[in-house]
Amino acid sequence: MSSSRVDWENILCLAITLAHDAGAELRRRFGREVVVTLKDELNPVTDADQAAETLIRQGIQRHFPTHAIQGEEQGETKPEGPIRWIVDPLDGTANYAHTFPQFAVSIAVADAHGVHVGVVYDPMRDELFTAQRGQPAWLNGRRLGVSQTTELQQALLATGFPYDRRRNADNNHREFVALNLACQGVRRAGSAALDLAYVASGRLDGYWEQRLGPWDVAAGALLVACAGGMLSTYDGTPFDGLGHQIVASNGHLHAALLAELAKALP
Ligand code: IPD
Ligand code: CA
Ligand code: CA
Repeated sequence: MSSSRVDWENILCLAITLAHDAGAELRRRFGREVVVTLKDELNPVTDADQAAETLIRQGIQRHFPTHAIQGEEQGETKPEGPIRWIVDPLDGTANYAHTFPQFAVSIAVADAHGVHVGVVYDPMRDELFTAQRGQPAWLNGRRLGVSQTTELQQALLATGFPYDRRRNADNNHREFVALNLACQGVRRAGSAALDLAYVASGRLDGYWEQRLGPWDVAAGALLVACAGGMLSTYDGTPFDGLGHQIVASNGHLHAALLAELAKALP
């Protein structure tokens, strides 16, 4: 199927429906007994992650059986065509397991040119962030725009720390100290998808993190781009969509953010 004939409106509609359905499932289970297992020393997964991913995968397969799916918990299906769904069924699992109500469902859909559709849904606030490449980004039907902050000293930033931070000294601690001293405040709220959605909506002025997966950032990065923000890796090269390194900002602060990161790193 050529990308020009892809019905992106239909795909966006399904992504929204599935994000709502998965979000409702997460909300229903929230605060009840969740089964938590560890994928790694500090990296939890719950039965709610699995249930939400299963629900999303079944929905995609029912409507678009030839589309590939890359889900955080259940892996990647073989592509039969150029369309790939990139799914984080529960971004913020550690929060969820502790009943800290900051988490989201993140669904992106990409073709050979990159991510075309992005949906991030916060079921606790009923906030739906959506974007389509080349068009504005929206929050519950309201058009999004990045903040106008121009000074790092007045900026509210967000970040996160990798799950292997005990055994890998490249764990964002140096960068955190540097930026915490340079700006008004740094939040570590525990959901990369919402951090990016908040940059897109002007609630945050910037965000940086490394060693994420594509499912963490695919939808959120499109939101930032469509809301007029800027994205790159730490050295300023264009963001590759994978999440190895990401810096997102309102654009005005991008150079200052990169300069602080460069100073903090050896
Ligand atoms: C995590 C969250 C967190 C980030 C982690 C991610 P998960 O996703 O986005 O904010 O700092 O590195 O892995 O594991 O809750 O889906
Ligand atoms: Ca995640
Ligand atoms: Ca997840």
